[in-house]
Amino acid sequence: MKSSIALIGFMGVGKTAVGRVLARKLKRKFVELDSLIERRAGKSIPEIFREEGEVAFRKLEIEVTEAVSRNGNQVIAAGGGVVLNKINIDRLKEDSLIVYLTAPPKVILKRIEAGGERPLLEVTNPTLTIQELLSFRKPFYERAADIKIDTSRLDIDSVVDEIIAKVRQDASFAL
Ligand code: S3P
Repeated sequence: MKSSIALIGFMGVGKTAVGRVLARKLKRKFVELDSLIERRAGKSIPEIFREEGEVAFRKLEIEVTEAVSRNGNQVIAAGGGVVLNKINIDRLKEDSLIVYLTAPPKVILKRIEAGGERPLLEVTNPTLTIQELLSFRKPFYERAADIKIDTSRLDIDSVVDEIIAKVRQDASFAL
């Protein structure tokens, strides 16, 4: 039986916001991979990208995912690119149901404008970059997902309740 839930999906779909509330409701520890990466590197995600590059960031992401995957009873919010390395999903799947949160590009853009810095979207045409990254990554998200939920029209509590309802139906998860 699995004891954790890992939230995956593109930047801006609500993994962190949903994860916090989900963890509280399920009485599990909330873990955000990006925060652990920042702690391990001693600098922010934009600083890692700027000073060391994306490859170094992905290496840290693999290390942190491996470390986190050894613990149980967690709600894990992954970064949007965690699916790019299959080893991450293999490790997460050992103890986590994978919940894929989605939203259309327009909603993502709006949410990202309101949120923190995203180095991959510091480009002249973020809309185009979002579309390109999304179409490249979609098959990775789809392949990894056990459960898929569109977050564009739902508020955080409704998304959380929908996740809990779907998780309850999954025989491989110990609620
Ligand atoms: C990334 C998403 C970010 C962060 C980094 C790279 C990506 O996390 O890990 O900027 O490749 O999609 P969020 O999805 O939490 O924004």
